[in-house]
Amino acid sequence: MFHTVACDLLGIRYPILQGAMQGGGGVELVAAVSEAGGLGVLPTFGGTDQKLRADIAAVRARTARPFGVNIMPMGRGIAERCAATCIELGVPIVTTGRADPGEDIVRRLKDAGIRVVSVIPTVEHARRMEAEGVDAVVASGTEAGGHVGTVATLPLVPQVVDAVKIPVLAAGGIGDARGMLAAFALGAVGIQMGTRFMATVESDLNAWGRDRLLAMRETDTIVTRAMTGATVRCIRTPQIEAYEDAVARGVPEAELKAMAAAVRASRYGESRDDRRQSAAGQVAGLIHDVPSVRDLIEGMLAEAARLAERLPAVARR
Ligand SMILES: Cc1cc2nc3c(=O)[nH]c(=O)nc-3n(C[C@H](O)[C@H](O)[C@H](O)COP(=O)(O)O)c2cc1C
Repeated sequence: MFHTVACDLLGIRYPILQGAMQGGGGVELVAAVSEAGGLGVLPTFGGTDQKLRADIAAVRARTARPFGVNIMPMGRGIAERCAATCIELGVPIVTTGRADPGEDIVRRLKDAGIRVVSVIPTVEHARRMEAEGVDAVVASGTEAGGHVGTVATLPLVPQVVDAVKIPVLAAGGIGDARGMLAAFALGAVGIQMGTRFMATVESDLNAWGRDRLLAMRETDTIVTRAMTGATVRCIRTPQIEAYEDAVARGVPEAELKAMAAAVRASRYGESRDDRRQSAAGQVAGLIHDVPSVRDLIEGMLAEAARLAERLPAVARR
């Protein structure tokens, strides 16, 4: 029922992508999503080339199905090295996040036979990536966890669908069958989820993060530049609130810099393994359990099929 052009394009069974998640989704999660029929995507942000090579090998040891690698173009050299490794190792799919990696990188990936899917926050960005030759875009609303723009998923997706000819997937605020069906109603041919996949058995989020996700309300995220300099939606913490409050009060730049450093320092407790900070989306308020990836995906598809049958009745109400 949910077989779409995105499935054919990416060689996957279900049109469900797991958005790359630095700090939220490692090898186990990526392999589990691909093995369950979706597309798992490895993060690379902040990692080394050596780690990327090891991660690719580890995913391949766990699944023979297609998977993706995410390129976060935070610096030209990093994006180029990451693309070169994906080409060398024959990675089937590359997703790009936050910014345009540049036309030449897109072309090199495409020439190597790699499918390229770009996560975009605006219509203009979608048009640019289409012109550069990417195979599909993921229109990601401001509800999403991680780097975000300002437009919400509900208005963004149909405007992108109207603006480009390539397939459009939806991301930002999708966490169950209702969100998935809504995305299809907006014209998307698939979905990408991040936050929901963090609360799964296979995610590498620690106990602090899982407990927070389970307890969070829809208002418990905050968008801040304190992390990377760009706007990132995170779990609300006192340190980030203090920083954003200072931004709103217009405190001097030097003071803001010190506060941003304090926010970044508060990411860890006793050690680097003791993470106390994470990106997360508004959909966190909808998360009440920690299923296996397979149960999550199959449960969503079964529920979406049930809901789709009921939709004509709902529409008549
Ligand atoms: C903890 C976390 C880390 C993320 N890291 C990345 C990343 O490294 N690269 C990227 O393109 N997107 C990243 N994202 C965005 C996700 O890939 C995905 O697009 C987003 O989570 C979708 O919105 P949702 O959280 O509402 O499902 C991250 C999201 C989260 C929650």
